[in-house]
Amino acid sequence: MNDKLALPVGTTLDRFIMRKQEEFPYATGELSQLLRDIALAAKIVNKEINRAGLIGVTGAFGNQNVQGEEQQKLDVIANIRFIRALRNGGEVCAILSEEEDDIILTGNSKGKYIVAIDPMDGSSNIDVNVSIGTIFSIYRRISEPGDESTEADCLQRGTCQVAAGYVVYGSSTMLVYTTGHGVNGFTYDVSLGEFFLSNPNIVTPKTGTIYSCNEGGVNSFPEGYKKYLEYCKEKSYSGRYIGSLVADFHRNLLKGGVYLYPPTAKAPKGKLRLMYEGNALAFIIEQAGGRATDGSRRIMEIQPTELHQRCPLIIGSEEMVKKVEELLAAEKAVVA
Ligand code: AHG
Ligand code: MN
Ligand code: MN
Repeated sequence: MNDKLALPVGTTLDRFIMRKQEEFPYATGELSQLLRDIALAAKIVNKEINRAGLIGVTGAFGNQNVQGEEQQKLDVIANIRFIRALRNGGEVCAILSEEEDDIILTGNSKGKYIVAIDPMDGSSNIDVNVSIGTIFSIYRRISEPGDESTEADCLQRGTCQVAAGYVVYGSSTMLVYTTGHGVNGFTYDVSLGEFFLSNPNIVTPKTGTIYSCNEGGVNSFPEGYKKYLEYCKEKSYSGRYIGSLVADFHRNLLKGGVYLYPPTAKAPKGKLRLMYEGNALAFIIEQAGGRATDGSRRIMEIQPTELHQRCPLIIGSEEMVKKVEELLAAEKAVVA
């Protein structure tokens, strides 16, 4: 057959999910459906982001979220879209969202899964047309199906995640996820309304020359972080910091690099949230051969005690993260 005339379009996310499900003989398809529900919401949010300036959804919403941060209209819209898609999909019994004070009970009491989500990451960049994202983390519930979901369902260690991923709404829109068997990236083809496999089996470089940090807070960084930033300058590394964790993470995942958000005077426990930023990206980076720590503990081993708890985050290429840990440990030894 002369298929040169009609080249294959590639593997859609749906087909990839189905093929992967066949690798789990006992899989009953709920997680596959849940991943599809997330992809559907991502397509809808992508459409609204692409037209934000035309449909009047840029700018502040006028409320603060539980974090005391100014909600942007797209924070609220993305939150509604993902919660609605997960509720209607039927597989999720409870949702922990950055934009909601408490866990959302979806009414799907038989749903087996919990989703922790940052519906819109990098909100400060929405109005200036810089890449933004969505970050999600999926757990199996602890409570019995049929019972009401509990806060304990949503306070599980990152090592209990069954899947995690992110959407980066950038020069192209990509969905990257793992179910614990490697990391795969899909690029959205707007004309077909489908995500296609574009980055199979992503492995992050063991080291790199890119560091991402908001150095505006450096005066209040613990000494070890200051030493690492000096080290980067001695090595003439490239500073790349977009202000959207997903975009900085995605670039470093593909090219090699390290993202650091240390404790600061303004955010003594760090700014980023463990459940829907730290753990999700830590699962991905470890599956891609990288590393993620809060400076002294593996991110995924931290036992959460609060829904929106924050953590310092050092994440990326294994050797670069280890260098930061080495300098932080040396600092502790000096201070001790
Ligand atoms: P969010 O928009 O979900 O609140 O996340 C913003 C985060 C992260 O995306 C980004 O890297 C970081 O905040 C930027 O913080 P600074 O402005 O303090 O650098
Ligand atoms: Mn965020
Ligand atoms: Mn957010």
